[in-house]
Amino acid sequence: MEKYDPVICECANITRSEIIDLIKKNNLFTVEEVADESAVAGMCGACIEKIESILNEVYDHLLM
Ligand code: FES
Repeated sequence: MEKYDPVICECANITRSEIIDLIKKNNLFTVEEVADESAVAGMCGACIEKIESILNEVYDHLLM
């Protein structure tokens, strides 16, 4: 777990590490899939860009 674990989705109170775990455990590739598996991005939508960049980071990292 990262030391600094910011809340990414304020509406659902879900942190960066929780989203990364969710993506990896469920092999999620899109924001829509992340939203289907959790309460993330289901309300105001302000976190959508942040979730996109986390998805990119996870898959860039896995490709290396
Ligand atoms: S901050 Fe994620 S839906 Fe509002």
